[in-house]
Amino acid sequence: MSSEGSAVSSRLAVVTARQDAGLNICLLTLQAEDGAPLPPATPGAHIDVHLPDGRSRQYSLLSSAPYRIAIKALRDGRGASQWLYDNLAVDDLVRISAPRNNFSLREGATDTVLLAGGIGVTALLCMYDTLSAIGRTVSLHYWARSQEETFLHAELSGKEGIHIHSCGGRATSMAAVMAGHGPAADLYCCGPERMLTEFAILTRDRDPQRVHIERFEADSTGAFPQTDHGFTVKLARTGTTIAVSKNQSILEALIQAGINLEYSCEEGLCGACEARVIEGDPLHRDSVRTPLEHNKRRTIMLCVSRVRSSDTLVLDL
Ligand code: FES
Repeated sequence: MSSEGSAVSSRLAVVTARQDAGLNICLLTLQAEDGAPLPPATPGAHIDVHLPDGRSRQYSLLSSAPYRIAIKALRDGRGASQWLYDNLAVDDLVRISAPRNNFSLREGATDTVLLAGGIGVTALLCMYDTLSAIGRTVSLHYWARSQEETFLHAELSGKEGIHIHSCGGRATSMAAVMAGHGPAADLYCCGPERMLTEFAILTRDRDPQRVHIERFEADSTGAFPQTDHGFTVKLARTGTTIAVSKNQSILEALIQAGINLEYSCEEGLCGACEARVIEGDPLHRDSVRTPLEHNKRRTIMLCVSRVRSSDTLVLDL
């Protein structure tokens, strides 16, 4: 299956500015091709950026009016970000999705700690700006390999509440940072997988509602249970029944059956293919939602979810 993604809610945008923002990092400003306002976004939101060859990648919005995103070359290791970094220039057109937010900010929290690794800082800067603007207590800890690899180093290093670590000196550990914040703190983390794994371990005993993770790479730690059997999906709105073989995703089976769906990453990362479950016992394997969120929302990501014990999933489609 191609990774073209549905263009249901996509639109053309024009690159109106490009700025060097660190080693192999560029900061792009995007506006609608026709000059109309782009859909508003909340802190933590991302957009999909579609490449001409059908691939797409997710990028956090640093601001939503206008949209600003940062692209780090080689970030995803699959060449998509490298291509965008090498090719997008001012006045170029690019297809983007509407914003989607799987990493919502609790603006009412009394203490918010933002923990960023590498380019993951771009998912957190909008939160920092929002909370600072309304006078909330917020700190942003940003681990970067070196000063030259730090995103907007000169701009960020002077800001109150922003702590950049590992720029030549002895790095403060994430554990040390978190030890300074009690159980009432809301913690947000976005960074490389090793950092997210450490964050998950360090927050094991905290209230899950105060612990928030954003991934831009599929979780490869093997934590997701595997299944190797086919099953059936029933679409409640039409009564259609569709077989899902052991070698295909629900998303693939539905698209093959002619169902028009929105999707993008096909890796359980972006949230585009989320669908509500009416009946059945889903097995979640995405990185978008926590088990707690899944239980509350009764949704699955069609691109990676399977069934656990039932043979049929009834979906609100
Ligand atoms: S297409 Fe991205 S989560 Fe399914």
